[in-house]
Amino acid sequence: MRTKLVAGNWKMNKTAAEALQLTDELLNGLRPFPAGVEVAIMPPFPYLMSVAEKIKTTPVKLGAQNCSEHPWGAYTGEVSAPMLKSAGVTYVIIGHSERRQYFGEEGALLAQKTDAALASQLLPVFCCGEPLVVREDNRHFDLVKMQLEEGLFHLPPEAITKVVIAYEPVWAIGTGKTATPAQAQEMHAFIRRQLADKYGNQVAEQVRILYGGSVNAANANSLFACADVDGGLVGGASLKAAEFLQIVRAAGN
Ligand code: 13P
Repeated sequence: MRTKLVAGNWKMNKTAAEALQLTDELLNGLRPFPAGVEVAIMPPFPYLMSVAEKIKTTPVKLGAQNCSEHPWGAYTGEVSAPMLKSAGVTYVIIGHSERRQYFGEEGALLAQKTDAALASQLLPVFCCGEPLVVREDNRHFDLVKMQLEEGLFHLPPEAITKVVIAYEPVWAIGTGKTATPAQAQEMHAFIRRQLADKYGNQVAEQVRILYGGSVNAANANSLFACADVDGGLVGGASLKAAEFLQIVRAAGN
């Protein structure tokens, strides 16, 4: 049985004061903390340690949005996995489509970042998903398969079970368009089949696959009801406490 995970990716939003206020609102709304669903919040780097302090006595987990492939050194502006670990981080997003699209991150680099995260005992949230033109061309399964092969499938079985995969169709990110539950389930089942082909059924059944792309309070129930949807990676709707809390409740149903 996979525990559902609802993770809020705050992206590049909020001042320090706002980040702490949102954290407080979430913690107040979550108490008593729900059983059977794991909650993670992923603030921008500068707020990680102060958010970590607020959540340290709660089951809420801290996530970061990216990490360097290098552990230390002269890489101005970068933040490494050992740093994140020492700041209280549990999860780290690897290969978000915005990193792929705007920062040229892909393939081998994402495999290195995945390795860097795991080497620091961070749990990667590895993102995959196709742009609209690729879906219109009916090449979305091929592309997602390639993204998994390039970024993840070098891992041994004991490492892949630590990875969370997030299917985030690019056409659904920040657009208000959501994959239908049928589209999400179809791709999630495909991803699990790729895992099964590579690692066997037992391993594939353990890996959590989140859906991301305009998840909100209105659509969360139907998405999370899909057999292979193990929660959500939530962008815009994670910036409003009330809405994010409703999404968390939908995962607990
Ligand atoms: P939205 O929920 O704003 O579409 O963003 C999804 C996302 O990119 C989460 O990582």
